[in-house]
Amino acid sequence: MKFIVTGGCGYIGSRIVESLLDNGHEVIILDDFSSNFNVDDKKCEIEKCDITNLDELMQIEISDVDQLLHLAAQSSGPNSFIHPQLDVQINILGTLNIIKWCQELKIRKIIFASSFVVYGDHPETEMLTEDNACNPKSVYGLSKLYCENLLKIYGEAYKIDWNVLRMFNVYGPGQDLTRTDQGMVSIFMNLILQSNHFEVQGSLNRFRDFIHIDDVVEGWKLCVEKGKPNTIYNLGSGHKTLLSSLITNLLEILDKKDQVTYQESSQTPGDILGCYADISKITRDLGFSPKFELYKGLKDMSDYVLSTQEN
Ligand SMILES: NC(=O)c1ccc[n+]([C@@H]2O[C@H](COP(=O)([O-])OP(=O)(O)OC[C@H]3O[C@@H](n4cnc5c(N)ncnc54)[C@H](O)[C@@H]3O)[C@@H](O)[C@H]2O)c1
Repeated sequence: MKFIVTGGCGYIGSRIVESLLDNGHEVIILDDFSSNFNVDDKKCEIEKCDITNLDELMQIEISDVDQLLHLAAQSSGPNSFIHPQLDVQINILGTLNIIKWCQELKIRKIIFASSFVVYGDHPETEMLTEDNACNPKSVYGLSKLYCENLLKIYGEAYKIDWNVLRMFNVYGPGQDLTRTDQGMVSIFMNLILQSNHFEVQGSLNRFRDFIHIDDVVEGWKLCVEKGKPNTIYNLGSGHKTLLSSLITNLLEILDKKDQVTYQESSQTPGDILGCYADISKITRDLGFSPKFELYKGLKDMSDYVLSTQEN
């Protein structure tokens, strides 16, 4: 099959591209190269393009594409409080442009990279199903929810099938530790490696659902193969982890228990207390079954980070 992957040079997109190529598919990446990742341009075609520019998009001539996987985005919650216009431009306008372009290219299926942040706070329950109400607390979350609704409206009007994957906190080898605006695991791993003392912005009693990148890639693969048309899926591990427990695990794995101290400080705007994914729908429909237990996944990630630092 033939795929376009927007944001295919980013952390998650580049891993999905690798998996599609390994499975014998043809892939065209569409990216504006604003991320720090390097993708091997010998393995697939790469179109440099800013998705906010519809004219630029419409000039790209590609035919017979089966599915478009849409991951290009301003991908940081905290950043959306500093530059909210980027979420409106890149995430909302960019997604509208991508849908119009799909109509032009006669692409019949779009899979959209959404996020658990669309749910916002739910004091009444910790485990969230796709049917829980969406009350995002950041412009980033709002932009993702807006895009989901654009897909519903234009999908029906243009007869394009869609799937939405609401990913929870993704982590794993290859994550960019220099980014301080995105990726809870990479941020704390970096702080532990770089300092003797650090501040945790917000409560240590917050909790999250951490999902390993390999499990994320498997979820996308299953959705490509058998996602039910016009359906939203949670893509998480299905496990609750307290932030305090994440940090304790990282200190142990990185052998820094006796050297590094930390304390709570003020909260990041838009942050939520916590939630984790009910993954029964994606398990039932697609046969998704996450493989990585958190401690093992963190150990893999730390081995990768330490080996790259040695080189
Ligand atoms: N990382 C997570 O934990 C997580 C969780 C839920 C959802 N998501 C979503 O998944 C997607 C991928 O996340 P990621 O962590 O790989 O992010 P990333 O920042 O590494 O990748 C985003 C990619 O989009 C590209 N891009 C940005 N603006 C663009 C534009 N105007 N035109 C074309 N390309 C542009 C960047 O160059 C980059 O390659 C994003 O949509 C993000 O919001 C991520």
